[in-house]
Amino acid sequence: MNATVPIVWLSGRFLPLADAAISPLDRGFLFADAVYEVIPVYAGRPFLFKEHLARLDRSLNAIGMPMPMATNDWADVIRTLVDKNKISDGMVYLHVSRGADVIRNHAINERLSPTIFLMTSALAPMDPTIQQQGVAALTLPDQRWARCDIKSTSLLPNILAKSTAARAQALEAILLDNGLLREGSSSSVLMAKDNVLWAPPYTPEILPGTTRDLMLRLAGELNITVTIAPITEHALRHADEIMLCFATRGVLPVTQLDGQPIGSGVPGPLWQHLYSAFDAYRQRIAHTAFNT
Ligand code: PDD
Repeated sequence: MNATVPIVWLSGRFLPLADAAISPLDRGFLFADAVYEVIPVYAGRPFLFKEHLARLDRSLNAIGMPMPMATNDWADVIRTLVDKNKISDGMVYLHVSRGADVIRNHAINERLSPTIFLMTSALAPMDPTIQQQGVAALTLPDQRWARCDIKSTSLLPNILAKSTAARAQALEAILLDNGLLREGSSSSVLMAKDNVLWAPPYTPEILPGTTRDLMLRLAGELNITVTIAPITEHALRHADEIMLCFATRGVLPVTQLDGQPIGSGVPGPLWQHLYSAFDAYRQRIAHTAFNT
């Protein structure tokens, strides 16, 4: 579990969370001019570290920022932070903003130093009722921008959608656009129909998900047929199974969509196969050395 006083890392220093301060002129604070990653930690070891760092690099590139630290330095900071906070199962939040200027100015000042912030938190194990009953999701129109492949901290439409879902007792908002599935407000979405696992193609409108990529890889190893193709709202509503994939929760079965049962209304067999394979994989990986 967490140490009583969380230790965070801010632009070169480990310090107690209460002492971590940024300028109000930080562009991350003023404009959400920042990108982030959430890296799971299992048995004290960062999971899919390389994949998360590769996506960070991609996001930074897309907004014209260089990678501010070498891979080994990220690994050292993360390892130390996980140790200092005594995290066994949890996550690392990693945030890079373009930095603080001396005035509020939309145009980018290329001479700024980035603000880099990392923190950890512990995660409770998956609630057994979720494994037995699944979770509810609510569909909503996707009101985000055209570059959701960038993992930007500009998350206002995502948090509003998640909150609308929460008010309807749903765990996730599944975003639709023009009759097509996009993704969840903070998750990738997969669908199963007639023993085939479906995933929407990667376009600029959705985030390439590290957990989804792993699930599709594990599905291949399990000889489950995978189809990458656009998923219509009609197909989604008539799916045998729907799954949410995200770093903080792995893979979750959706058994209710907009109050209607999905498939038989209980977690389905494809989810069970994938979840078992995921669980076995993370246990195997958790006990290997953390090499970058
Ligand atoms: N969110 N799509 C969106 C919009 C997301 O925010 C996330 C993750 C994903 C899944 O990506 P991954 O499997 O790499 O976590 C897809 C994280 C967990 C968050 O914002 O907290």
